[in-house]
Amino acid sequence: MTRKTAADLRSHRWFGKDDFRSFGHRSRAKQAGFSAEDIAGKPVIAILNTWSDANPCHMHFKMRAEDVKRGIWQAGGFPMEIPVLTLGETFMKPSTMLYRNLLAMDAEEALRAYPADGVVLLGGCDKTVPALVMGATSANLPTIFVPAGPMLRGNWRGQILGSGTDAWKYWDEKRAGLLDDCAWREIEDGIARSFGTCMTMGTASTMAATVDALGLTLPGASSIPAADSSHPRMASAAGRRIVDMVWEDLKPRDILTTEAFENAVTAAMALGGSTNAIIHLVAMAGRAGAVLDLDRFDALSRRTPFLANIRPSGKFLMEDLYYAGGLRGVLDRLRDLLHTDCLTISGRTLGEEIEGALVSNDAVIAPRAQPIGPEGGVAVLRGNLAPDGAVIKHTAAERRLLQHAGPAVVFKNYNDLAARIDEPSLPVTAESVLVLQDAGPLGGPGMPEWGMLPIPKKLLQQGVRDMVRLSDARMSGTSYGACVLHIAPESFVGGPLAFVRDGDIIELDVPARRLSLRVTDEEMARRRGSWTPREVAYPRGYGHLYARHVTQADKGCDFDFLEGTAPIGEPEIH
Ligand code: FES
Repeated sequence: MTRKTAADLRSHRWFGKDDFRSFGHRSRAKQAGFSAEDIAGKPVIAILNTWSDANPCHMHFKMRAEDVKRGIWQAGGFPMEIPVLTLGETFMKPSTMLYRNLLAMDAEEALRAYPADGVVLLGGCDKTVPALVMGATSANLPTIFVPAGPMLRGNWRGQILGSGTDAWKYWDEKRAGLLDDCAWREIEDGIARSFGTCMTMGTASTMAATVDALGLTLPGASSIPAADSSHPRMASAAGRRIVDMVWEDLKPRDILTTEAFENAVTAAMALGGSTNAIIHLVAMAGRAGAVLDLDRFDALSRRTPFLANIRPSGKFLMEDLYYAGGLRGVLDRLRDLLHTDCLTISGRTLGEEIEGALVSNDAVIAPRAQPIGPEGGVAVLRGNLAPDGAVIKHTAAERRLLQHAGPAVVFKNYNDLAARIDEPSLPVTAESVLVLQDAGPLGGPGMPEWGMLPIPKKLLQQGVRDMVRLSDARMSGTSYGACVLHIAPESFVGGPLAFVRDGDIIELDVPARRLSLRVTDEEMARRRGSWTPREVAYPRGYGHLYARHVTQADKGCDFDFLEGTAPIGEPEIH
């Protein structure tokens, strides 16, 4: 392997030359308190930090950035921490998905504009993971991802609580009149116990695992709980490794091949991962020049057994997964379904990195001979209601609903739903199919996580806890139920979902991967003819840019001008 020399470093253009601008850069490094010995000839390692008071999942990133710096100094690098936009899933409205591409742009442009030779990405809360990876892939500098890690298990009156999943569950109990205010407040106190990401197999856990399976983290890093002392040790090890990666010139596009993305999908399916992973992985693959579409996703899901018994599809939480053997244990049990020759950031193959992984608890990570389910958690549906596809997390739904036909109860947007869902006069039964329109990438806008439509109160009181629900929205990875999501094209742009009316019969057939509307083509054409598109909500600003360039769900919702691998030149320094 040929190694770079100091003169080959990208940062050499800033610090190594004998000219006026380099004088300025060196003098400003000294202004920050660094002497010539601190920086001369060393790789500059950017640490893109998504720490913020607005993101409780990242509260430990101030400390972790210091852990990463410790490793960088030890290995002979020069750390440069750069704050970037954070996407705090719980506080940011209308949806963090609206801003995923903004963080991706922030990350890419920060890396291009500053003298970075390599980068450590600090992210974890849902969209921060794909956004940082998308930006770093487009910048294509040596990259390591340090995942925030899951928070500790929640606790209430001796019961284990899982993020999101148990909030939805007990909220339904409260709406059904089975839980009092005191108990509800205790759950509020106990469900989010530490810094770190949601500890169910929600979007954060899923995306961290996929980035791990892609080979962009230290092996198994995604499973380490945020509050475990292994976590800062992992962070400083990442700091040491990134310096070597710069000298080796090992870059994201050397790692992010089509085969690596297939490994990531396989991992997500075996974990019962979030449906959001589909959108993000398609977008990430688009930045790497890899090939991944919905049909390949479905094919991989069909042949991958569901092994990780984690909520919302299973029983345990991320802490249990870590103790049982973590992602390396899961991957080792999938070895024959993986491209084990894929390169990882360690410079070794995925197969080498999972060698010797042990599983200590088969109840959490099921053996191949006794999987929790024969196939992966997500199915891709097509039909006259979703010509470009839709998805369902069928492992998190009541099985009786996976083949179901019923009359539609249509809500034209979320406000309409909120106003009417609990009306005693709503003409709805347990057999009905709830339909939400205008909640997609443009309609939401930002494709909010509204896809787990609430069960009408009167049905809750009858004991109904799941029913078929349809939308062009997304769903939190911690959510559950027979919810068909990501219907494309979305209703806002005139997809068939826009023309569904109350009483239309909708047929869902997950084994056949079909979603159908029993309305004739002639009648659909008639409804389309009388349809008036709604105005885009943003006359100016970022939303205006978003509305002009965001792609549909089946294409990953990236901006069309950010896709691909066309090279962009280095900035001029004069
Ligand atoms: Fe941050 Fe779930 S809210 S990971």
